[in-house]
Amino acid sequence: MTILDPPADGTAEQPALAATATIAAPDRRPRSATRPTLLLLSVGIVAAWIAVVVSAAHLHVNPAIHEAALFLHLAAVVLGFGAVLTVDWVGLLWILRQRTLSAVAQAAHTAHLPIWLGLAGLAVTGALLSPHVSSPRTAVKLGAVLIVALNGLYAGQIQQRLSRYGDGTPVPRALLLRSMTAAGISQAGWWTAVIIGFLNAQT
Ligand code: HEM
Repeated sequence: MTILDPPADGTAEQPALAATATIAAPDRRPRSATRPTLLLLSVGIVAAWIAVVVSAAHLHVNPAIHEAALFLHLAAVVLGFGAVLTVDWVGLLWILRQRTLSAVAQAAHTAHLPIWLGLAGLAVTGALLSPHVSSPRTAVKLGAVLIVALNGLYAGQIQQRLSRYGDGTPVPRALLLRSMTAAGISQAGWWTAVIIGFLNAQT
């Protein structure tokens, strides 16, 4: 078995046969149709991010609203990051051949809404927390948030491509590497934001 083979899900191994069959089996329709949509969504994310950063620099709320925003900020961390961790955990189990590819697809599909709701909630509540946007540490955090959001779009695309492969079908190494890279970028971004948020709250 190589890393390209399907996870252990009870399907019999047929290395040579499977390798030949899978070259033709996956749907390889051109992706150009979705590119304008992706570009539009990316521009929308960058525009929303700029709006959050600019408004955060000018918004000053009273202590009661600040307290409520901090509570909601932490709730949004739980919602968004919790959903991301769940999907990545199922993905890791798939790599370790403990789950099927369709289980990963199902987890990713289910977690899609809470992840984006969490991220949007973090941006809105974060803007109410009067961040020092000119401080280098906060700038790194905000940069990490932008990367997490753009990477989320990219990860969605990868997930769509992965879902074209059945549970018994080997996934190309390049696609596997891309999905692992996207997961790594996501984890690095979320942890950077969490750690800097925690450090900023201490000072
Ligand atoms: C992935 C996105 C984000 C994550 C995971 C995250 C996480 C956190 C965490 C864990 C804290 C610590 C709270 C505490 O210990 O009391 C925090 C605080 C904070 N966050 Fe975020 N955050 C995110 C996005 C944002 C954004 C977009 C902004 C601003 C626009 C922001 C502004 C702040 C501020 C100002 C604080 C300090 C609050 C205070 O103590 O006054 N965060 N964040």
